[in-house]
Amino acid sequence: MKQRVVSGMRPTGKLHIGHYHGVLENWVRIQNDFECFFFVADWHSLTTEYADTSGIRENVREMVLDWIAFGLDPAKSVVFRQSMVPHHSELNLILSMITPVSWLERCPTYKEMQDNLETKDLSTFGFLGYPVLMAADIILYKATRVPVGHDQLPHLEVTREITRRFNYLYGNVFPEPEALLTQTPKLLGLDGRKMSKSYGNSIYLSDTAEETTKKVLSMMTDPQRVRRNDPGEPDICVAFNLHRIYVPQEKLDEIIPACRGAAIGCVECKRILAGCMNERLAPFRAKREELAVNPGFVDDLLADGSSRASQISDTVMAEVRSALKF
Ligand code: TRP
Ligand code: SF4
Repeated sequence: MKQRVVSGMRPTGKLHIGHYHGVLENWVRIQNDFECFFFVADWHSLTTEYADTSGIRENVREMVLDWIAFGLDPAKSVVFRQSMVPHHSELNLILSMITPVSWLERCPTYKEMQDNLETKDLSTFGFLGYPVLMAADIILYKATRVPVGHDQLPHLEVTREITRRFNYLYGNVFPEPEALLTQTPKLLGLDGRKMSKSYGNSIYLSDTAEETTKKVLSMMTDPQRVRRNDPGEPDICVAFNLHRIYVPQEKLDEIIPACRGAAIGCVECKRILAGCMNERLAPFRAKREELAVNPGFVDDLLADGSSRASQISDTVMAEVRSALKF
């Protein structure tokens, strides 16, 4: 019996290569080993985007196109949208009744996010309850493993605490889910900061080869290498964090000494990188273009996935109501 996995992503629109190597690539990899449920966490995005929801539809569509083009396979995994399975909300309500506010207030991501997004008013009930909804997402399918990055571990810890409390109060309904940790390379953006949509320093999965090359050529390198004759150091070169992912090892073995000996210029070096990136991404990008032509593709896929997810969640919710003696 395969273990069951649940994971979600907030619909932020087109994904960049940091999302891909950090999360999506891992989802694609584990599809054969686990029974997977992957969903668009659109209600979660409301926790921070409630004041302007105009982009949601388009963001869901763009993200799901990236998912499928880059390898999520609806024949292997259940791919769905959170808000199309209302049981998430029903279980969220029940879990909210048994979750002490102090657990949520002391969750480190709570204060952090409020500080990071200080232009938004995040002193809402829903934002505080972010980890409760996430707990509902996970245990609604009785998942045992949750693929997440380190940033999500505090949330998963809250999920486990809520699960224990539910089982203690109402009987042993849910398994306690465990993290399925993946070492995620922290990708730097064009300017050397963390790659992030809000910094405008990203290379998107759906960028064309030309856009990619242009962005790569504009990328920061070793800040101490000012002139062509200065020796460089790949270990502190911003572009080189992408070389490590995309350029084959034997080529790296040439580039590293050449950089340190000023035998290669940064432009040439970044052209090699752009070439390797475009080569690797090309088949996925072609598939994405193909999928995007069909206007109903994403809606149909999510409708089908959400109905498959509902079949499971329906049974689990019946168990929950019965455990609560409703
Ligand atoms: N909080 C996750 C994130 O920001 C998204 C998410 C929502 C999630 N529900 C989930 C991840 C359930 C795993 C399981 O990335
Ligand atoms: Fe970076 Fe390449 Fe320039 Fe060296 S030659 S600093 S590795 S871009």
